[in-house]
Amino acid sequence: MVVSDSQDKMYYPPEDLRKDAHVPDSNSYLALYKKSLENPEAFWKEVAEEFFWKKPVTGPVQQYNFDVTKGSIYIKFMEGAKTNICYNVVDRHVREKNLGEKVAFYWEGNSPDHYMTITYSQLLGQVCRCANVLKQLGVKKGDRVSIYLPMIPELVYTMLACARIGAVHSIVFAGFSSESLCERIIDAQSSVLVTADGVYRGEKLINLKQIVDEALEKCKEKASSSINRCLVVKHHALKTKSGAASNKLQTPWDSECDVWWDEVMRDSPEECEPEWMDAEDPLFILYTSGSTGKPKGVLHTVAGYLLYTSLTFKYVFDYHHDDVYWCTADIGWITGHSYIAYGPLANGATNILFEGVPVHPHVGRFWEIIEKYKVTKFYTAPTAIRLLMKYGREPLQKYNLSSLRILGTVGEPINPEAWQWYHEVVGQGRCPVVDTFWQTETGGHVLTPLPAATPLKPGSATLPFFGVEPTILNEHGEELEGEAEGYLCFRRPWPGIMRTVYRNQERFENTYFKKFPGFYITGDGCRRDKDGYYWITGRIDDMLNVSGHLMSTAEVEAVLTEHPAVAEAAVVSRPHKVKGECLYCFVTLKDSREFTHTLVEELKKLVREKIGPIATPDFIQNAPALPKTRSGKIMRRILRQIARNEKDLGDLSTLADPKVVEVLFSQRFEAA
Ligand code: PRX
Repeated sequence: MVVSDSQDKMYYPPEDLRKDAHVPDSNSYLALYKKSLENPEAFWKEVAEEFFWKKPVTGPVQQYNFDVTKGSIYIKFMEGAKTNICYNVVDRHVREKNLGEKVAFYWEGNSPDHYMTITYSQLLGQVCRCANVLKQLGVKKGDRVSIYLPMIPELVYTMLACARIGAVHSIVFAGFSSESLCERIIDAQSSVLVTADGVYRGEKLINLKQIVDEALEKCKEKASSSINRCLVVKHHALKTKSGAASNKLQTPWDSECDVWWDEVMRDSPEECEPEWMDAEDPLFILYTSGSTGKPKGVLHTVAGYLLYTSLTFKYVFDYHHDDVYWCTADIGWITGHSYIAYGPLANGATNILFEGVPVHPHVGRFWEIIEKYKVTKFYTAPTAIRLLMKYGREPLQKYNLSSLRILGTVGEPINPEAWQWYHEVVGQGRCPVVDTFWQTETGGHVLTPLPAATPLKPGSATLPFFGVEPTILNEHGEELEGEAEGYLCFRRPWPGIMRTVYRNQERFENTYFKKFPGFYITGDGCRRDKDGYYWITGRIDDMLNVSGHLMSTAEVEAVLTEHPAVAEAAVVSRPHKVKGECLYCFVTLKDSREFTHTLVEELKKLVREKIGPIATPDFIQNAPALPKTRSGKIMRRILRQIARNEKDLGDLSTLADPKVVEVLFSQRFEAA
């Protein structure tokens, strides 16, 4: 790979990658990009030809309104066409492409002793059986099914089974607490919940069924629970050698509601006619943090999501039939939905489904798996790279990583040091690093390099994908030309963009379209450089990005103030070597309450229980008072600077009591 001498180091695509690449050079990229914007109808129609349509589109391919001043926001792609996404990502390969014997998934368990292979034919059989089971449990087209499963094949079977019968899946990451699960079940009004008895995450055994039962109990307290049946997978890897379930796990059971997966799957038929869906019928809901604290149910629909995840997967990872692709995300997040499930399967790819964590049972686990399956395309998060960097080169040197051709990152800005390490040490200088910027809301990559076409600059997500028209706006909503920094927005939809916030169109419009009429606002700050490359500078709202997971400060503050000792709380982000950002919390206690180590531990536990371990605060500082304006608004900017030890606080004249700042500074935590 050639490195230019210019100020921004450029990394050019390796020649051998260009030979058979889908988009072999920057001119091809530019020509296709131009076509996608100038003639989106023709562009997306051509993409759609790859797929099976029970009824082809007859009207316009895209229709939308992005301007709140002109009426309600809507986005439609291929409306009126009929298809089924499950048919397209599974049956089509078996029935039309003769790929039945091809491996769809290598499942690799938490322990290296547990693994299995699933071909496309086997996947089809299991998905159909599961679809019939769901029907038997009363699930109909349009019903919601909540899924709270670890990274086991049953998770993929269930989501595809939902898609097959037209049910809307709502997957909840199995690291979320019972409270978070309950909130998501109530919002989605799901009738069936699919879970497992338990799972090992690293060394830790987690009793999922117990968490589920607590969640359902909470649902009953808060509203009448919508869940009629709970389908429970017995996690086979938890069985002891003698075949009995691990005695460490007590599975609570309610025979009126609970059903064992194995028992109902056994007799379930392997044939199930797909439900033919309208292109704009809902496919899934996935909850993402909102700045008010309450998670938003991001809704994606059938056809646009299929076209977009399929095309981005094919081009961004330059997918070829003999590839072995691995994305280390969890399907509980959008990255797993789009780039473990739908995108790779739409292309008939061979994929790895990994249940474990990067450092169990040893810190070379990722590299061991790459060697074992001869992974060619590898997609992970900056936080994982930073974690593994800590152990140096040695764990990698034990394994053969020569199969790797392309590396990808997602979830947060990647710092140049981590980028270099990924490129030099993991990719041995051979593999382009595609830094993909996108969101739960965008459905797929929106700013991203194409590996054979885009010269790379470490830390930049580079250029827009086909059909995507980014722009940078200033505070007044004016579009900035050339080199500029401001709000990252998009001027028009692409097929994979969300359609609404589930049951809350108003929130959808207020969050993404109100601030700048005519534009979708991402919530991220962004700089465009002289070459037109985009650099994400981080969130500009009250959101934090911890280990690639978005969360809102308001959500954590609300939990902290639930504690009887806490009068007020303010949460800000502080940079963290591995997680990118971490939570730094200021709490003001009620009179007579004492700030003790025990209290700090209680508060951390409370957040962990209410939201989940990913939201556990790193720092909780006693704040006898918080810096506020005369009108009583907390000045978060100052708290952020205190957390980061930035002494130059600028203008403090709007503060009601400037002395507060000195006190807080004197008690701040030094670097961990
Ligand atoms: O702030 C951006 C950051 O993650 C946010 C989206 O989070 P979520 O919806 O959870 O989806 C994460 C996986 C797609 C964005 O608003 N983000 C994501 N990818 C990048 C990024 N920031 C910088 N560079 C990226 N490549």
